[in-house]
Amino acid sequence: MYLGLDLGTSGVKAMLIDGDQRIVGSASGALDVSRPHPGWSEQDPADWVRAAEEAIAGLKAAHSAELAAVSGIGLSGQMHGATLLDADDRVLRPCILWNDTRSFREAAALDADPQFRAITGNIVFPGFTAPKLAWVRANEPEIFAKVRWVLLPKDYLRLWLTGEHMSEMSDSAGTSWLDTGKRRWSESLLAATNMDEKQMPSLVEGTDPAGKLRSELAARWGISGDVVVAGGAGDNAASACGMGTVGEGNAFVSLGTSGVLFAANASYLPNPESAVHAFCHALPNTWHQMGVILSATDALNWYSGIAGQSAADLSSELGDTIKAPSGVTFLPYLSGERTPHNDAAIRGAFVGLGHESSRVALTQAVMEGVSFAIRDSLEALRAAGTTLSRVMAIGGGSRSRYWLKSIATALNLPVDLPDDGDFGAAFGAARLGLIAATGADPVATCYAPRTAETIAPEASLVSAYEESYQRYRRLYPAIKGTTS
Ligand code: XUL
Repeated sequence: MYLGLDLGTSGVKAMLIDGDQRIVGSASGALDVSRPHPGWSEQDPADWVRAAEEAIAGLKAAHSAELAAVSGIGLSGQMHGATLLDADDRVLRPCILWNDTRSFREAAALDADPQFRAITGNIVFPGFTAPKLAWVRANEPEIFAKVRWVLLPKDYLRLWLTGEHMSEMSDSAGTSWLDTGKRRWSESLLAATNMDEKQMPSLVEGTDPAGKLRSELAARWGISGDVVVAGGAGDNAASACGMGTVGEGNAFVSLGTSGVLFAANASYLPNPESAVHAFCHALPNTWHQMGVILSATDALNWYSGIAGQSAADLSSELGDTIKAPSGVTFLPYLSGERTPHNDAAIRGAFVGLGHESSRVALTQAVMEGVSFAIRDSLEALRAAGTTLSRVMAIGGGSRSRYWLKSIATALNLPVDLPDDGDFGAAFGAARLGLIAATGADPVATCYAPRTAETIAPEASLVSAYEESYQRYRRLYPAIKGTTS
């Protein structure tokens, strides 16, 4: 048996799979985000442990015999968070999360130092880890002085599980301190933020063993044998392992809180100018690119709050038959944007409203706006040398037929829907646990699910969508500077 643990932003999910990768069961524990000031987003690492214990207790209640047979654990987690520990592994302040933008000035300053883009292959985004440490140094110097370890969120769970300070390449690539091509910490980037390699965890590949489950926890969960904890992955790379997005040309679009267009690459293909993320994959010698938009289902949820109807109701009110864009355009920059703009200050907009603009027309515009934002990511990947011929869709938003059809039409690419099942980050993490515990071949283990259905672009609307996308593209420069 193998256990995948995914530390998300809204909860921890634990999933058990057997040696044939059949899902035995899953359970979760909820998490809240604290937003004490505009642009801030924090969590207390003690809550991660509590939520993980809750999820594992849920599994134990339903599947105690299978849990007792676990021999490998894989970890996945929300990326980029700065978990700061003192010399006794005590947490120094709440973790500053991936969607916290307080360090936008520090990020711009680091990004202006050419070695960051040259070595990491990425823009230094405000959500990334290094600028957060620069912010702590400037604003909380007494805490900065005590920082003995900087861990990514899932690696704090590893510390709790194993007692080890370790990480792996895919998550570490999102810190702005990794030499992404060479897959090792960069002394000079750490030095540029007054940090030292000794403050960073040691690195392995995501498929390698990275610690053993502490005997006290094993006993509590009824496990008597040794349990290997795999390096694991950042949540996007872990989802890719779950979806079989590991070979060149494979891609997925994820419609979660944030939206991600993810492509696997056999080589390192950075192109920071297009605001594409170029990170190490969780598998050895593999990299990936992704475009990240900060509000995907978050945009529809926001509109649902305004409209006073659930997102599901709004979506069904729209029906399944795709319509031509109505002339109302929505820009989904509710919390700024990463790809392609790298702009923490920009905010969203509805443009083209008229008396005839109904609630349904605005729902349609919100979905189209997110589809166009993902098209921006497709163009960014193209500029970075990746051509896609199809994508697989995952995430909560992919339950909406309308949205899928709209994305297929905006990208002018077929969108595949996987067979029923749960191929997300917890499943990918469990696969990494299996590989680390058994030495199984990573690529053969991370195969793709069967495609249940393919959503084709709506041929009669491709050109109307293209025209509408071009209008969408012109709007960002038009509103920049007017929304902040
Ligand atoms: C990726 C990113 C998000 C988080 C969400 O760069 O910031 O997708 O990983 O958990």
